[in-house]
Amino acid sequence: MRILLLGSGGREHALAWKLAQEAEVMCAPGNPGIAEDCECRAISLEDQSAVEQLCQELQPDLVVVGPEAPLIAGLGDRLRRAGFSVFGPSEAGARLEGSKAFAKDLMREHGVTTAEFSTFEDPELAAMYARAHFEGGRQVVVKASGAALGKGAIVCSSLEEAEDAIRMMMVDGELGDAGRTVVIEERLSGPEFSLLTICSGAHFASLPVSQDYKRALNGDRGPNTGGMGSYSPVGWVNQELVRQTEDEVVKPMLDALQMHAIDFRGVLFSGLILHGSRPYCLEYNVRFGDPETQTVMMRLGSGLADALLAAAEGRSFESPEVLDNAAVTVVIASGGYPGAVKKGLPIELPVDVPQGVKLFHAGTATADARLVTSGGRVLGVTASAPTLEEARILAYETARQVRFEGARYREDIAILT
Ligand code: AMP
Ligand code: GLY
Repeated sequence: MRILLLGSGGREHALAWKLAQEAEVMCAPGNPGIAEDCECRAISLEDQSAVEQLCQELQPDLVVVGPEAPLIAGLGDRLRRAGFSVFGPSEAGARLEGSKAFAKDLMREHGVTTAEFSTFEDPELAAMYARAHFEGGRQVVVKASGAALGKGAIVCSSLEEAEDAIRMMMVDGELGDAGRTVVIEERLSGPEFSLLTICSGAHFASLPVSQDYKRALNGDRGPNTGGMGSYSPVGWVNQELVRQTEDEVVKPMLDALQMHAIDFRGVLFSGLILHGSRPYCLEYNVRFGDPETQTVMMRLGSGLADALLAAAEGRSFESPEVLDNAAVTVVIASGGYPGAVKKGLPIELPVDVPQGVKLFHAGTATADARLVTSGGRVLGVTASAPTLEEARILAYETARQVRFEGARYREDIAILT
């Protein structure tokens, strides 16, 4: 099987690494780490005709779209019209991630358990709604409706914070068009987990549950990021809770999509919080999570390529094999992330990477034959071991040996309290 994988982040590196064990993989545009695992082609995913041309040239059996932006822009539809099998939903399906207002409306309409909410285009009405919540002793989360690279949700402990978030998004326009419409929802409390589900219309199979660390700093402090680390398995999420989540969050949404004539072929990523004893859906994404994927790929045996191909072709499939191991990913970020970061800083990698550890590149580039930083999240160190504790120790031992100016990572990934 020949696969063309589209994307250039840590998630795509993990997918490339795993899929290359089962198929011939090429990646576009890729990054320096991916280029060590498969051939890369330098094109921009924003240039849809260039992507289509590349498909014509390579004639892949399967195209896997990594990031959400091209899906939201309709790349999946375009490639399917050109006759290719694409793992990644249509533009209509990708609205689930591209518009939180749309996703929340659909959740409400189809009985998916989710926080109570309202959608606003007027900052004053938004502030009034937030005020009513705080006066009633409740807190809120202010969310940009559009896709904002995982940085569009602001969890507010005070009315002042909510007003600032509303102003930042709706008046100052700091998130661009993504923040012109906001969803304000009730703040829930509880532990969170991520469920990645491979979907082929109504047929689906969930991958092992993982947990992501969204906040920038130790102890879940600081701003939300794209994700600073992850681990799997998540001990407190048992099979029954997975089944309940599938019944109450995954299935109703797949049914809803089908009722809207959307044949969803891709990953439905449910971001969940256990509030009370029920899994509430915080959000859906329409692609693999980052850095959940790095961890989850380390836990899979064989069968991923076949499952993705079958889903892309609209067939049912066997669940990929899950290993009896544990995996931990520690993300090494540039100083200042998730704010502005310096780029082009030389990176020093460990001389020997221990067995069971893989360095997944995210924001790296090559300049003058040297590996340099090129983004906020630079590298992920993913370790696999028989137990979570061993995997964590192994990941941190390796992370300490990755050096560049300003490099930082959370020190509490997979430390269970
Ligand atoms: P989202 O982009 O919607 O997944 O939100 C990002 C993060 O914000 C989540 O992983 C949670 O940590 C937090 N969050 C989002 N919505 C809520 C909510 N209703 N209650 C509490 N925390 C939330
Ligand atoms: N780690 C969360 C995300 O991929 O959106």
